[in-house]
Amino acid sequence: MSDLDQVTLKAGDKSVDLPVLKPTLGNSCIDISRLNKETGLFTYDSGFTATASCKSAVTYIDGDAGVLLYRGYPIEQLAKQSTFPEVAYLLMNGELPGRQELSKFDRNIVHHAMVPESMEKLFSGFRYNAHPMAILCASVASLSAFYHDSLDLNDPEQRNQAAVRLIAKVPTLAAAAYRYSMDLPILHPRTDLDYVSRFLHMMFGVPGESFELNPVVAKAMDLLLILHADHEQNASTSTVRLVGSTGANPYASVAAGITALWGPAHGGANEAVLTMLESIGGPKNVETAVAKAKDKNSHFRLMGFGHRVYKSFDPRATIIREMTHKVLGELGINDPLLEVALKLEEAALKDDYFVQRKLYPNVDFYSGIIYKALKIPTEMFTVMFAVARTAGWVAHWLEQQVDPEMKIGRPRQVYIGHADRDYVEMDKR
Ligand code: CMC
Repeated sequence: MSDLDQVTLKAGDKSVDLPVLKPTLGNSCIDISRLNKETGLFTYDSGFTATASCKSAVTYIDGDAGVLLYRGYPIEQLAKQSTFPEVAYLLMNGELPGRQELSKFDRNIVHHAMVPESMEKLFSGFRYNAHPMAILCASVASLSAFYHDSLDLNDPEQRNQAAVRLIAKVPTLAAAAYRYSMDLPILHPRTDLDYVSRFLHMMFGVPGESFELNPVVAKAMDLLLILHADHEQNASTSTVRLVGSTGANPYASVAAGITALWGPAHGGANEAVLTMLESIGGPKNVETAVAKAKDKNSHFRLMGFGHRVYKSFDPRATIIREMTHKVLGELGINDPLLEVALKLEEAALKDDYFVQRKLYPNVDFYSGIIYKALKIPTEMFTVMFAVARTAGWVAHWLEQQVDPEMKIGRPRQVYIGHADRDYVEMDKR
């Protein structure tokens, strides 16, 4: 953190004192909100590489030290000791729940896990081979058609209700998207199961048959959900906040976050990693893949590598790498893709190109191999990410709604088009 309380910016014969904001942890930020009024200048920062978009108390990342804290609690401790519903409560409410608070929260989620029956008509409108992310975006956005009437954004209870509904219904919609794409009957959420077991039953249960839950699978799924639950102002969360800043309802805001997550530079990377590992074909082709990733004439990148914020290691990737060996061992799976992944990591981490650019495996590098071991199909990987990240999205949306400094998000631009010119008649062009 910088000791400076303000910085002075000289712009020609004008100078302006800009206050420096001090965070609890991390880099100080220059508050430039007066800059334009006093100098006529804007700032330019494509991709927000050096720009904070809001004040937030939800999640903290130290990218150089590989630290990730949810509400101050290290991800390693939460991964070992917590559960996903508890983490979702923590993100939403700021504190760990007591026993009674957690059980009330769980009951509330079970109560809202069902989705309106008429949504089955929405699913049946999709072609059988629609990507489940496409179905998820549409179905989450369509929740606003069912619950919009009772949505007063100025009422804290209604805001909370919407947040709980999203945490409760997104897994139901995610599993339904998968079942529809497999031409399998959609299963209703079982109220006697916990959050993870309920989701696994909706994914893999067979109507009329008892459901055998493998505790190794349930534990691994819970851990993956915890690790993906939030990551401060990433692209999808910033999208939720941007849409939320317009006063749009939370279902629309979260649906926008899901679309942003889909891209391969963000959450879509987990699906892309598996496709990449399969296309590499075997450990003997790893060097060729690394060479291609370095070749600036090729569009190929090592998927699951690099991060805007982490410049030493991604603590989530470290936890997932350890877990991959354990889960595959416990399930008796020998996946040749793991060998390709390990060889690829080893080769990249020794290579100057990756070392100089501080490119390390990120959360998506190993997660696909575990999802595959848990029998989650590849097209569902990013959907799984969305199920987890819903907890973070609603936490940020709730925080934003009571932020006294919240304004509609409306960036400026550096215009590089034509200066004004006269319209030319068609026959004179
Ligand atoms: N493979 C090869 N080169 C890379 C990679 C990669 N995966 N990532 C970055 N680079 C190079 C990039 O070409 C650039 O090189 P140069 O300085 O010579 O132009 C340099 O490293 C900096 O990259 P950048 O694109 O400016 O960095 P960024 O912070 O804008 O992008 C990133 C971060 C995650 C989008 C990028 O590293 C990437 O595309 N990674 C692969 C996709 C991926 O795994 N995404 C998941 C991110 S973590 C989970 C999540 O957010 O959902």
